[in-house]
Amino acid sequence: MGLIDATKRQLHRDIVADPVLHARVLNLYLNGEAYPHRVDDYFPVAHVEAPELAERMRTHMAEEDKHIALYAKAIDKLGQQVEDLPHACIFNAVIRHHTPESWAVRSHQDRDTRRLRLAHFLAHAHCLEKRVARSLEMHLDACAHAASPYPAKAVAAVLADEHDHVRYTAEAVNELLPRSAAAAVWSVHVAAEKRANLDFSSAQLRRLLRENRSSWPGARRRYYALCAWAMRGLLTHA
Ligand SMILES: [Fe+2]
Ligand SMILES: [Fe+2]
Repeated sequence: MGLIDATKRQLHRDIVADPVLHARVLNLYLNGEAYPHRVDDYFPVAHVEAPELAERMRTHMAEEDKHIALYAKAIDKLGQQVEDLPHACIFNAVIRHHTPESWAVRSHQDRDTRRLRLAHFLAHAHCLEKRVARSLEMHLDACAHAASPYPAKAVAAVLADEHDHVRYTAEAVNELLPRSAAAAVWSVHVAAEKRANLDFSSAQLRRLLRENRSSWPGARRRYYALCAWAMRGLLTHA
């Protein structure tokens, strides 16, 4: 295992070791799941021509709502409260901030534009889901040491759905567009996710280190602060 993965694994174990910190991180995941309800350009199902894709997207929406309930119950089992976080603390909103293209599908747009925007939405969702799934894999490993057995059950159930979301969104983008157009769409969202990942991870790590100072083991607290600082540095070159 490389140093970065080893650091992430230890970070998730330190998070899970403290129920307050653990609940705060589960709140970050929960607010991402609830984000589609805060905006008007997610899941443009009414503009999807293929009935199978429209149905898959409806199921996807329902699964994200189920995830909200799973995280809320996990937070409650840790004796903590669900928090309503600002957009700066929601990975979806941070990716949006780093994405130069809009994925809003509107009725007045012509058919090709609507198809392209739909592909942009699905590519955005794919890159987002892939990053969340990677994070949940680390988190699930750490959950074996949580104060309650419930978060591990909840995270395992969420992760199984997220793997499916990662798969079908990629397939849909590649079916919607010719190869060169799909490649252009992918390059926009892969770059946005890379920048957003550094931005979000460093900002949230700094926030939790600052606001929950006493929850962290002292020596590693300083190491994690250094990691957050290094991520900010990488962001300026990403
Ligand atoms: Fe989800
Ligand atoms: Fe998902």
